[in-house]
Amino acid sequence: MQKRRLLASAALAITALGCGATSLSRTAGAAESPKQAPADNRRIAVVYFTKTGNTKSLAEAVRHMTGAALFRVETVEPYPESYGSATEIVKDELQRGVIRPIRPLAFNPDDYDVVVLATPTWWHHAAMPLQTWIRSVDLSAKKILTANTHGGGGLMHTREDFEALLAGRRLGTHLTVYGAVRPQDAKVRSWLEENGCL
Ligand SMILES: Cc1cc2nc3c(=O)[nH]c(=O)nc-3n(C[C@H](O)[C@H](O)[C@H](O)COP(=O)(O)O)c2cc1C
Repeated sequence: MQKRRLLASAALAITALGCGATSLSRTAGAAESPKQAPADNRRIAVVYFTKTGNTKSLAEAVRHMTGAALFRVETVEPYPESYGSATEIVKDELQRGVIRPIRPLAFNPDDYDVVVLATPTWWHHAAMPLQTWIRSVDLSAKKILTANTHGGGGLMHTREDFEALLAGRRLGTHLTVYGAVRPQDAKVRSWLEENGCL
């Protein structure tokens, strides 16, 4: 009986060591592991597009938790207020490959270590105005987190769009949220934690 108990505790110890070893090797093996860098060494910018405010709420939650600077991408010619008209116009522009000009942003990549890119889902994709902005900047050497807010479709092709636009860049993980978030949103917090921003 005692022998069995001893075996059981040995097995437990091995299991515990295994978990520890995993987390140790993760820590040791990742010189660039975000967890290694103190959060206050990270200068974070959120660049986002929003039409109805949901993605803005996500950007603001990131700022609330990290003190990030926010940059809102805007088109020179705004989309119509009405949801129905906007969806039809965006659909038409996507089909015709129309690129709406965007306003210049006072964003200097040298000022930031981490750039969070947040977009609404528009017809299954990252919204074009944010894609246009991404094409206009050099985000090499930045750690880039991506996110989408949606109306029920979930991730759809948004992450793929970011990956295609940012091929070869240092991408962190992606966050998908339905609608708006609160400033203290737990999902946002754990996403920032897993990417070393908190
Ligand atoms: C033009 C347009 C297209 C949309 N397409 C989708 C879609 O394909 N899938 C989805 O889940 N939601 C879709 N939505 C809903 C938005 O993604 C969702 O409401 C989002 O949170 C809006 O973000 P915003 O408030 O920052 O603009 C669409 C909304 C608009 C205006």
